[in-house]
Amino acid sequence: MELLKSIDPGKLPSHVAIIMDGNGRWAKRQGRNRAFGHHKGVDAVRTVAETAAELGIQYLTLYTFSTENWNRPKEEVDALMHLFVETIEKEIPTLNKNNIRLNAIGDINGLPELNREKLVSTIKQTQNNDRMVLTLALNYSGRWEMVDAIRKMLHDQKKGLLNPEDVNEKTIASYLNTAHMPEPELVIRTSGEQRISNFLLWQIAYSELYFTPVLWPDFGKDDFYEAIIEYQRRERRFGLTEEQIKNWRTETE
Ligand code: IPE
Ligand code: IPE
Ligand code: MG
Repeated sequence: MELLKSIDPGKLPSHVAIIMDGNGRWAKRQGRNRAFGHHKGVDAVRTVAETAAELGIQYLTLYTFSTENWNRPKEEVDALMHLFVETIEKEIPTLNKNNIRLNAIGDINGLPELNREKLVSTIKQTQNNDRMVLTLALNYSGRWEMVDAIRKMLHDQKKGLLNPEDVNEKTIASYLNTAHMPEPELVIRTSGEQRISNFLLWQIAYSELYFTPVLWPDFGKDDFYEAIIEYQRRERRFGLTEEQIKNWRTETE
């Protein structure tokens, strides 16, 4: 409650993206298998999604399964895929209760059929919710997304719909999976690792990065509040000087 009071509701990020990391290490510390850690991770997803929606965050994007994660032991990949199917279905009432719309980015066609079906069906069943968009990055990587965008652009050029001279940053952004979302102002990574691991490469050009040693299954309401408070403490400059930013602030306030 104390932490919540320190948050300025007028300066919230519109989009928070999270690299949920540390499920495996969390499980190991408990003497359990990695799948147990992933199960616990789902509870943290629920808590953080509810907290973000309550705060008034409009977009929450969670890195759930990367293109590279297919290289993990088959047993773990199978357990994760099973967990997604189970969870997505079970969470529909909670999503609807909290007025949260589910969305996905990534190579959805590369997911097992059952996963794809449940995902598409849940997205449909929550499509009219408008408090927050919860995006799962599933079978996602930033480089895959760029390759996918370039491929689509070349197809459009071939059809005469895209002229190379007209291509600018906005055009590229419009071909990405995140076309209808603002860029994340804040990216959080748990578990103490300080890297991006192929997440939202184009979109994080000017994002604030927040790293915390907390392992994902332990990440709760207060940890989320702390990240927001730290974000609000920082000064985003976009290449300008401190003075320019101050002047720009006085002009717009
Ligand atoms: C993150 O936790 C979840 C996924 C990548 C699916 P990890 O499974 O990477 O946990 P650590 O990093 O091994 O502790
Ligand atoms: C990043 O975590 C991917 C997800 C959170 C889904 P990883 O645990 O796979 O990343 P690395 O291997 O530590 O870079
Ligand atoms: Mg990891």
